[in-house]
Amino acid sequence: MFGLFSRLQRGAKNLVKQQIIQHHRRSGTVLFSDTTLRDGEQMPGATLEPEEKLEIARALERLGVHSLDAGFPASSPADIEAIRLMVPVVKRPVLTALCRTVDRDIEVADEALDGRPANKRGVSLFCGTSPLHLRDKLQKSPTEVLKIITDSIQFALRRFDIVAFSPEDATRTEPAFLAQVYREAIAAGATTVGLPDTVGIMTPIKVQQLIRRLQDEVPNLPRALFAVHFHNDLGLAVANTLMAIQEGANVVQGTINGIGERAGNTALEQVAIAMTLHPEEFGTPGHLALDEFFPLCQRVSELTGIPLPVNQPVGGANIYATEAGIHQDGLLKNPDTYLPYRPELVGGPDLQLVLGRHSGRKALAQRLESLNLPCSDEETAKVLEQIKTLPKGVIVNDDLLRQLVCAKS
Ligand code: KIV
Ligand code: ZN
Repeated sequence: MFGLFSRLQRGAKNLVKQQIIQHHRRSGTVLFSDTTLRDGEQMPGATLEPEEKLEIARALERLGVHSLDAGFPASSPADIEAIRLMVPVVKRPVLTALCRTVDRDIEVADEALDGRPANKRGVSLFCGTSPLHLRDKLQKSPTEVLKIITDSIQFALRRFDIVAFSPEDATRTEPAFLAQVYREAIAAGATTVGLPDTVGIMTPIKVQQLIRRLQDEVPNLPRALFAVHFHNDLGLAVANTLMAIQEGANVVQGTINGIGERAGNTALEQVAIAMTLHPEEFGTPGHLALDEFFPLCQRVSELTGIPLPVNQPVGGANIYATEAGIHQDGLLKNPDTYLPYRPELVGGPDLQLVLGRHSGRKALAQRLESLNLPCSDEETAKVLEQIKTLPKGVIVNDDLLRQLVCAKS
């Protein structure tokens, strides 16, 4: 009698889960999953204190990410502490904890996420499936690994409604075996299956071919969400992610500023902007507050201590600044002449017209006017001449400009 009741309960729960999965799939909205606090923090030197993780998690919530890879509880007490801080506070995203396919990891994740509603907590299980991982890391046969995976998913389902499984090193896994892994993981109850390009070796065309093959060879794929996770070793993580979106990926995982293991992960802000500018190709990035991106890029850089290259798309210091005279003249007439999007879209700073050797009269005249330093055309030309002969590295700030204006009169 009791067994029948619990079977009925399980059946009802599975029905609800399927309805949620099908709702996400039908909506066609791409869900953003952030792993800054886990894969991002894995970057050497990027260590974050639990309070710092909480601050970033709150910002990610404001941004509107669907889920947050909150840490790897079995790997360190600091990860558990950070998750415990997030549990009562970061309400909207699903918080997931990374686990090996090891029962103890799942139990530790369960404790770390205790107190969280069932639909807002999950585990992300991973296990290597490539020949290299099977032979040299795990020393297991494909059959043994399949059993570890399915047993672990079933174990996790006793504690969690949301159970994701990723075959680590998926993109170097023999495709027929990879398809079998997905079929069995979904049959065992995984609610999301991930495609991690663990060593970042994919190209967009190979992503397209692999996803199409999996769609053919994994008939139960529509019963789970399909998530992608690219590393950036070839500088192609964002391009690969966009291709995966075109091929039907439901969830994209990445980090702010693309930080992460080795060359990093997909930069989520870049994917979101590419989608926003090209909705006919990729759809729109569902429910994201894009103007949270720039401040968050800055803050993640400050807190992790990983500097942002000045030319980093979206977050870099040079993205909304120019020194070139022709560009400055165009931007003053209409900012769209030399920008793909306005800085305010991502919460960026006002356009900065930097004065230097390549600047023109228009930008200088505008700056002089804003500083209340009236100059005739002739005087402005003289100041510009002086700017162009300044030694390399001298920054023309407002004080220097005042001195140059005084010197010419
Ligand atoms: O890149 C990777 O394979 C990972 C796994 C833990 C999913 O980050
Ligand atoms: Zn990774």
